[in-house]
Amino acid sequence: MPLTSLWRDASRTTPAPAPPADIDRTMVPRHVAFIMDGNGRWARQRGQPRLFGHRAGTQNLRRILETCGARGVEVVTIYAFSTENWGRPQDEVTGLFQILSEAIVLEAPALHARGVQIRHLGSMAGIPDRLAGRIKDAIRLTALNERLILNVAFNYGARAEIVEAVRKLVTAGTPVEAIDEAAISANLYTAGLPDPDLIVRTAGEFRLSNFLLWQAAYAEYYSTPTCWPDFDEPELDRAMAAYAARRRKFGGVPDADG
Ligand code: IPE
Ligand code: IPE
Ligand code: MG
Repeated sequence: MPLTSLWRDASRTTPAPAPPADIDRTMVPRHVAFIMDGNGRWARQRGQPRLFGHRAGTQNLRRILETCGARGVEVVTIYAFSTENWGRPQDEVTGLFQILSEAIVLEAPALHARGVQIRHLGSMAGIPDRLAGRIKDAIRLTALNERLILNVAFNYGARAEIVEAVRKLVTAGTPVEAIDEAAISANLYTAGLPDPDLIVRTAGEFRLSNFLLWQAAYAEYYSTPTCWPDFDEPELDRAMAAYAARRRKFGGVPDADG
């Protein structure tokens, strides 16, 4: 199955649907992060190879990004490839890189036209030159856009990110007393961005798998049994409604309980 453009897909003739009336507009998460899991299981359920699931999962991004934008989300982070995913069979790793490479070529201009700023969270170490070049081109192309920030966590590991941040501080000769939470945050890949408010994981798992460990300190979590390629607008709205019903306390005592 070839990758078709997320935005120019002929089957998509209508804009993202309006939000259900019961969504509390005051509780829209600024930053939503997705652990896009279950592509392999989705493919297996259909008697297809795992890469078929990864293609379908990549194509699913269009509607999710469109709907996030329509709901007022400012930052979307997607977990595309973890540092641990190198441990998968070589043909799956190569296939994932190929799919991402194709997706960048197809999608970057359309994302750019829609005011999406693409960022990369992760390391370029070990990434084939051609793919690394395409990622850098997409970042450069969209750098000044302000409508929605899309962080692509690719070759990303949260522990490695924290180690790298500490190394940067040490290399810069930062005095011990200046190494605080703000200094570490400022040296993460997400420097300057709000922490994720909502982390959604598909395919029924309840773990972070080395994703945004530092930034997720006070995130709200949502898990659904639905595999990522089937995670659609109503699913997203259910996650947003669950978020709107949460009471975030950040370690304090809300007024009503005082
Ligand atoms: C998530 O789907 C995508 C990546 C990790 C790249 P999986 O490939 O992990 O799917 P399952 O968990 O095997 O079903
Ligand atoms: C997390 O999914 C990584 C991505 C979604 C890219 P995995 O499928 O790799 O995580 P585990 O192995 O189930 O923890
Ligand atoms: Mg998985």
